[in-house]
This record gives sequence, C-alpha cells and structure tokens, in this order.
Amino acid sequence: MDDNNPDCWELVSQGAEARVFALELFGMPAVAKHRFSKRYRAPALDARLRKERTIQEVRCMAKSRQAGVAVPAVLMVDTARYMIYSERVLGVTAKTFIDAHRDSGAVKALATAIGEMIAKIHDAGVAHGDLTTSNFMCRQSTGDDVVDQLVLIDFGLGSLRPQPEEKAVDLYVLERALVSTHLDSQDLLDAILAAYERHSKAAAATLQRLEAVRARGRKRECFG
Ligand SMILES: Nc1ncnc2c1ncn2[C@@H]1O[C@H](COP(=O)(O)OP(=O)(O)OP(=O)(O)O)[C@@H](O)[C@H]1O
Ligand SMILES: [Mg+2]
Repeated sequence: MDDNNPDCWELVSQGAEARVFALELFGMPAVAKHRFSKRYRAPALDARLRKERTIQEVRCMAKSRQAGVAVPAVLMVDTARYMIYSERVLGVTAKTFIDAHRDSGAVKALATAIGEMIAKIHDAGVAHGDLTTSNFMCRQSTGDDVVDQLVLIDFGLGSLRPQPEEKAVDLYVLERALVSTHLDSQDLLDAILAAYERHSKAAAATLQRLEAVRARGRKRECFG
C-alpha cells in the first residue's frame, strides 16, 4: 500500500462534508479526515468554510484535551488540503456499542461517561455542535464488551466560549439524535443528563436553557 496516495487509503466513513480514511502514519494506525468540496457553494465560500471548519476542529480538540477530555491525538494538519491526520481509535462508535449491548450495565456506565464528558468540555469552554452517538468512540483492547476509554471526535461544528444557549443546543441535538437512533433512548438520556448535572458547574443554567430549546423545538414541530 502506498501511504502517500489517498487513492490507496481505506475509506472508513463517507459523511455529508467529509470522508475519513484509515492509513498508517509515523508507524501507527491513523485516520485522515478530508473535507471535500461542495459544488453547490460558491468556490470562495466553499474554500473558506472547509478551511475554517478544519481549523476549528483542531482548536476544539486541543482545548478539550487540555481539560482532560480524551480526543484522538492530532498527528498532522494540512489546511491547504483541508485534511486532519489523527490517531485511529481502535474500537467502535458508542452507537454501535449501545446497539450491541442494550440494557447492559456497560451501556449505563457508557451513558454516565458521556454525560460527564459533555460537562467537562462545556466547563472548559467548548461546545461540540454535533453530539450524536456516532461522534463518541469506545476505545477497546480487551474485548467487544469492554470500553477502556471514551473518546470524543468530530468537532468541526464546535465553538469556543459558548453561551448557555449553545451548550443547551448541544444537549438538545444529542437528545434528538438518541430518540431517532436508539430504542430505550429515554433511559440513556436520563443517565446522560444526570451525570451532566452532577459534573458541570453551570449545569443549572444550561438545563434551564434546555427547557426553552425543547419548547422551541416543539413549536417548530407543530407549526412547521
Ligand atoms: N480518530 C478516529 N479513529 C477511528 N475512527 C474514526 C476516527 N475519526 C473518525 N472515525 C470514524 O469515522 C466516522 C466519521 O468521522 P467524523 O464524525 O469525524 O466525520 P464526519 O464526516 O464529520 O461525520 P458525520 O458527518 O458522519 O457526522 C466516525 O463515526 C468513526 O466511525
Ligand atoms: Mg460524525
């Protein structure tokens, strides 16, 4: 395999704005995330958005890491090509883990870890912008049913120094994602929010705001 030729890399994920490839870099398992061009955007805007989101992703990862939140180690950034190379987390997404181990103690523990992790990034001044169970990875080394470490990925829509509104929207986006992707989502959500409330210093303000965001969401559902 030619490690310098993207045509030879293995495609791991095709998203709406980016492709993620698996490769080896500096002798270790890595991924390359490439934000591709969206042809419907004017070229100047397209280039600006891809560059901004690449830089924002790395900034939010760095700030989260400083706060003690596990994120993949960034190995290289190529803003001219809109590429981030980072450590490949060996394991599965939280989505896959939850679907494979429904109703188990391991899933309850995972939900608690998710709530604690969101509290940590929020207290560190980072909002994620796209919290779904596909954006949490479970590092695994000993077996399919054991999570060694929870790792947060995909900060491209993240923001720094968020207001309570942005933190509440983070929780709301996760809530909606849980409802649409997982059975028994209410139990999961309750465990996540309980852990968030225990760990975030500003939980009261954020959860109060979450009520307002939910009310807006309901209104939109009713009136389009
Ligand atoms: N560091 C990593 N280690 C292992 N797998 C990864 C890593 N980063 C991303 N992936 C895999 O690639 C998928 C997509 O990555 P990511 O969420 O960063 O890209 P995205 O295109 O913004 O996603 P989407 O638009 O689907 O939310 C992840 O859900 C995960 O399966
Ligand atoms: Mg993602």
